[in-house]
Amino acid sequence: MSTTKGLEGVVATTSSVSSIIDGVLTYYGYNIDDLADHASFEEVVYLLWNHKLPTKDELNSFQKELNGYASVPDEILQQLKTYPIDKVHPMAALRTAVSNLALFDDEADDTSKESNRRKAMKLQAQIPTIVTAFGRIREGKEPVAPKEGLSFAANFLYMLNGEEPDEISIKAFNKALVLHADHELNASTFTARVCVATLSDVYSGVTSAIGALKGPLHGGANERVMAMLSDIGDESKVDSYIQTAFDNKEKIMGFGHRVYKNGDPRAKHLREMSRQLTKITGESKWYDMSVRIDEIVTNEKGLLPNVDFYSASVYHSLGIKHDLFTPIFAVSRVSGWLAHILEQYDNNRLIRPRAEYVGPDKQDWIRLEDR
Ligand code: ACO
Repeated sequence: MSTTKGLEGVVATTSSVSSIIDGVLTYYGYNIDDLADHASFEEVVYLLWNHKLPTKDELNSFQKELNGYASVPDEILQQLKTYPIDKVHPMAALRTAVSNLALFDDEADDTSKESNRRKAMKLQAQIPTIVTAFGRIREGKEPVAPKEGLSFAANFLYMLNGEEPDEISIKAFNKALVLHADHELNASTFTARVCVATLSDVYSGVTSAIGALKGPLHGGANERVMAMLSDIGDESKVDSYIQTAFDNKEKIMGFGHRVYKNGDPRAKHLREMSRQLTKITGESKWYDMSVRIDEIVTNEKGLLPNVDFYSASVYHSLGIKHDLFTPIFAVSRVSGWLAHILEQYDNNRLIRPRAEYVGPDKQDWIRLEDR
């Protein structure tokens, strides 16, 4: 039996949701560069779930349906208020609240195709409501209900801030959502597929995926990038900070990737967004510091920025609290998790690999009193 640590290079399933081939990312064959420049997030979600771009009518009714599901049961909002808000990370709150959603959905365990599609709609629509509600509750504010007629991106910012966002913010946030929507068999998506391959329910699949995304080696990196930038504080201190991190053999968050060795195709979009947005906010220092870190890490370690690196300064420029960065990743990535969950159900087989045993052999039983 041979093993590959971290399953590197192992092809664990077939999928037509998205692909990374020769460093090019596509969603159902559409290049991420085209989608980032032209698509609304709702179009991308439709594409991931239906394997075609929607017509105008299809898109309108899809948006309406999503909007119709965006309110969460009042019990969920009340529960959010009971969480230990001064201690709990929003990702932990989201994981718990999504698991709780299942308790208030009569069709949670209905495994029919129609029900699973409906639950996908509900989860896609309700996760932003939960993230924004928790973001407000912990600041002593009341949650803001979703508003009809707003796009997905606009609604998120509206529910978070209680006022309708400007066009620049909507456009930037929409693009960030598009860029994060799916990414082949990343750790959280694999987790979701493993979970539902036991024929467990959609809520369990998404709850497990949120748990996996939370880790600093995966979605949790974006918040840590901003923590690093804040720690450094000034461009003049970048070189010594990064050198010390290298000397201490610390990982620089937002760099490196298991699959991309010549650069993450999403990073260039986020870098440009960071440049533009930090200029508008008058805080170009976040972009300048990021660029300098990028230069050093690339030149000295040969590691390139991944999706999490420039997204940190983008979200910061949109006025978003740093510990909401990873929940925002979930707001987008749930679309990909759901696409993979539906695909897994459609052609299921239990996912159950083997482990190479490296423990001791043939131990003799010792009675408790003799140990
Ligand atoms: N900073 C410094 N060194 C790094 C970094 C980094 N960010 N990433 C990799 N390395 C080094 C490792 O220390 C290791 O060196 P060694 O061979 O001397 O021990 C070598 O590069 C290989 O790294 P691994 O961790 O084995 O690579 P792996 O493919 O397992 O991990 C990962 C990929 C998790 C993304 C890694 O690059 C990392 O930890 N990056 C920082 C966290 C991060 O940005 N995560 C977000 C990834 S994108 C996403 O999930 C949305």
